Amino acid sequence: MDIVRTVADLRTRVRAWRGAGETVGLVPTMGGIHDGHLALVRAACDRLDHTVATLFVNPKQFGPGEDFGSYPRDEEGDSGRLEAEGVDLLFAPPESVMYPEGYSTRVEVAGLGSILEGAFRPDFFSGVATVVAKLLLQVLPDAALFGEKDFQQLRVVQRMVLDLDVPVEIVGVPTVREPDGLALSSRNLYLSVAEREIAPALFATLSAVAEAVRAGAEPEERERWAESALLSAGFEGVDYVAVRDGVTLGPYATGQGPGRVLAAARLGKTRLIDNVAL
Ligand code: PAF
Repeated sequence: MDIVRTVADLRTRVRAWRGAGETVGLVPTMGGIHDGHLALVRAACDRLDHTVATLFVNPKQFGPGEDFGSYPRDEEGDSGRLEAEGVDLLFAPPESVMYPEGYSTRVEVAGLGSILEGAFRPDFFSGVATVVAKLLLQVLPDAALFGEKDFQQLRVVQRMVLDLDVPVEIVGVPTVREPDGLALSSRNLYLSVAEREIAPALFATLSAVAEAVRAGAEPEERERWAESALLSAGFEGVDYVAVRDGVTLGPYATGQGPGRVLAAARLGKTRLIDNVAL
């Protein structure tokens, strides 16, 4: 696996593959590589001839007081794991390549980007949409793969690609979980031993909501139940538990199309998000 740090080097490599009629997949990451990322790489390797991964901790998607400074950074460990899983090329640009002096453009997905996570992290989705738009234009892959763990991010990226006519398929890959149900996340590293024991209650509670709504329970009543169940389990705060339409993330109409239950809750310094299908 080669590591490139400039857009020119990245394009030279991808152009050679394209010239030989080969397909290219993109797995964008911020590092902290875990089995969830490796599932994205495997899905890319299964579908496409070549896999490009990116490693860039994107400052534009962190708000003031968030964990940009402490986000896990271990390029050597991360690149070893990506290479072992079959990545052909790693694009690990410095910030000056992604956002050179004078950089001024932001991509905003209105509506979808300002609800749920967007209501609590106002610049998050425009930061994500901006960096993903750049990565897509830099690599020009046939497909890009994103984890369903960040379900709203997946929908925001799909909307952006549709709206901007970016010629790429966006593929969602199911969440990878620990045996006790906790969704894998780079931020799980922040949990203390005691918090780690409480954390699986998030998936268990969302699964219980999904099951109850499927059986005919009132979504809003189950959302309120879930908030108090999470607090009783030991979470210190619940930002939201929401039963939503699985495509638009707008209000869920019982029995009409796929639904999704999404939540964000706080354990000490860590904010966990998760979601399950209805
Ligand atoms: O999900 C992530 O790790 C990031 O939001 C992404 C998609 C790599 C953009 O920085």
